[in-house]
Amino acid sequence: MLDVFRRIYGSADGIRVFRAPGRVNLIGEHTDYNLGFVLPVALQLATYVATTPSSDARLHIYSEHKQQMREWTIAAIPFLEREHDWTDYPVGVARELIRAGFAVKPANLLVRSTVPEGSGLSSSAALEVSCALALLQGRRIGRLELAQLCQRAEHNFVGIPCGIMDQYVSIFGQAHSAIELDCRSFTHRPVYLPESAAFVAVNSMVKHALAASAYKDRVKECITAMDHLRQHYPSAASLRDVSLEEFIEAAPSLPDLLARRARHVITENRRVARFVEAASRVDLQEMGMLLVDSHRSLQHDYEVSCAELDFLVDTALTIDGVCGARMTGGGFGGSAVVMLQPNAAPDFESRMIAAYRERFGLTPQVYPCRPSSGAGEVTNFETIAAAG
Ligand code: GLA
Repeated sequence: MLDVFRRIYGSADGIRVFRAPGRVNLIGEHTDYNLGFVLPVALQLATYVATTPSSDARLHIYSEHKQQMREWTIAAIPFLEREHDWTDYPVGVARELIRAGFAVKPANLLVRSTVPEGSGLSSSAALEVSCALALLQGRRIGRLELAQLCQRAEHNFVGIPCGIMDQYVSIFGQAHSAIELDCRSFTHRPVYLPESAAFVAVNSMVKHALAASAYKDRVKECITAMDHLRQHYPSAASLRDVSLEEFIEAAPSLPDLLARRARHVITENRRVARFVEAASRVDLQEMGMLLVDSHRSLQHDYEVSCAELDFLVDTALTIDGVCGARMTGGGFGGSAVVMLQPNAAPDFESRMIAAYRERFGLTPQVYPCRPSSGAGEVTNFETIAAAG
């Protein structure tokens, strides 16, 4: 990374490098913006941003992957419009930093990422968080404040009303464990996964154009479902506050589509708790079953899956040693997460690849999901070299 930096910017004197990981969400999908529970793992796949101060009044940013250089004067940043490309994330973050009172200083940035774009493994949050840290250049900011600032960049500039999960886990992720995050109180606890289980993400290699608009639709549908449910339960502030029993009682008064959306969220929150509990008992069978239930709920009630993800899940479930599988992330493409016994892995990968290739003509990438630590400054440059 140092070599590339020197080639692009002439000098790497005073360079600092910041890293922010991608994530895989094990269970608790589309619950975060309903103030519920999620169980993500920060991955070793990560985005790295190297930075040095610049002597002009500009912010320069180069993406190694896109092989694109972009630059703006610092004064122009608050007035920039969306470009509908990768630069929306750093610009969105820079704008939010300025709004929050952190002056953005002239700098040279180089972005390298091992989180595949469109993989549903949260390359966007990894880019936001790593750029925010690089632009802060070591200035202090609370970790929750940083997560919320990056989330606001996505809301206000990128235009996606996302929940807090991706940014939060990119910052608070822990090596050796998943984190169970309460998206209302913004608190989390580590959840240690049984050593006898392995998790892998299988990338469908597609991201359907529908994803962003469908995400916005789901957020709205949940708000409308809550408006209906509040007539029955006035003290309920979000879907998280409605028990399954209460929901069943009120469901007949809801339009069918809204009832299905709400049912997904309400049952999914319960599945997170049950999954965490099953993990503590090392009950792989129960954990696997909950993953499959989650997928079916996302497929039929929440309708955010797609043919490719359903195929990956259904194929995984036919392979010996697989405990369970589900789509992960926002949906409409991206990845499936599969839980398996470690000795099943080699055969699993080749069978998945062959089946998917035959059906869709694409070669899925398979990534091991080993928990890694959250974002921070990288001082050991060998880590970055090893990242490719
Ligand atoms: C995307 C969003 C998250 C979350 C997931 C679905 O990854 O960024 O906030 O809503 O979808 O669980």
